[in-house]
Amino acid sequence: MKGFFITFEGLEGSGKTTQASRLVAALKEKGYSVVGTREPGGTPIGETLRNIVLDPNRKEMNSLTEVLLFAAIRAQHIAQVIRPMLDEGGIVVCDRFADATLAYQGYGRELHLTMVREVNGIASWGVQPDLTVYLDIEAEQGLARMRRRLEEQENIPDRIEREDREFYEKVRQGYHEISREEPGRFRVFNADQNPEQLHAKILDKVVQELRRRGMSNKLTLDNMA
Ligand code: TMP
Repeated sequence: MKGFFITFEGLEGSGKTTQASRLVAALKEKGYSVVGTREPGGTPIGETLRNIVLDPNRKEMNSLTEVLLFAAIRAQHIAQVIRPMLDEGGIVVCDRFADATLAYQGYGRELHLTMVREVNGIASWGVQPDLTVYLDIEAEQGLARMRRRLEEQENIPDRIEREDREFYEKVRQGYHEISREEPGRFRVFNADQNPEQLHAKILDKVVQELRRRGMSNKLTLDNMA
């Protein structure tokens, strides 16, 4: 695959969705061929399954069903969106990916980590992020931000947003574990800072990585012409 695959990870309230879309806009402005997408979701099938996996009324959902649904969403997403874009030499910016499954289902739900890794491996079809931007925030602060946002939007929490602080502490520990295992790919940014400055730091890192791989915006534009 010739392209470049960037994922965003972080707890609820970390600001990753805002930062991911700002990055997409900034890269487009620089002339790169880029698509912004998300998980769970990213395709019509994925968005339908998202509604099921996050439905607050489906309290009976078993953790294994949950992990397999996230994996099914990913398999479709890779086949339909991510791999074709990367094969064309484009950039994919994805709001959450396989690390979320390891952090939420593996560490948060305490499913067997080897099993979660195996499921991730099957669903990912060998596609792995080149760079992961992880926005680190304390669980309590993230949850407070999330609740404020839900109130402002007059929205109700989804099935996973209903989890308690202890769950999110475990998820955060999971992300920290991944960052220790893969410090090269998994870049940690402090989410508790001015969003403008954070955006500038993320963009800087991404452009540096793209240049290192010889992916200049002009080249990408030439390819598109
Ligand atoms: P979002 O907040 O980024 O829209 O993601 C929706 C929720 O899905 C969020 O609570 C994290 C959760 N999630 C998992 O539990 N496992 C996964 O593999 C993914 C992609 C998301």
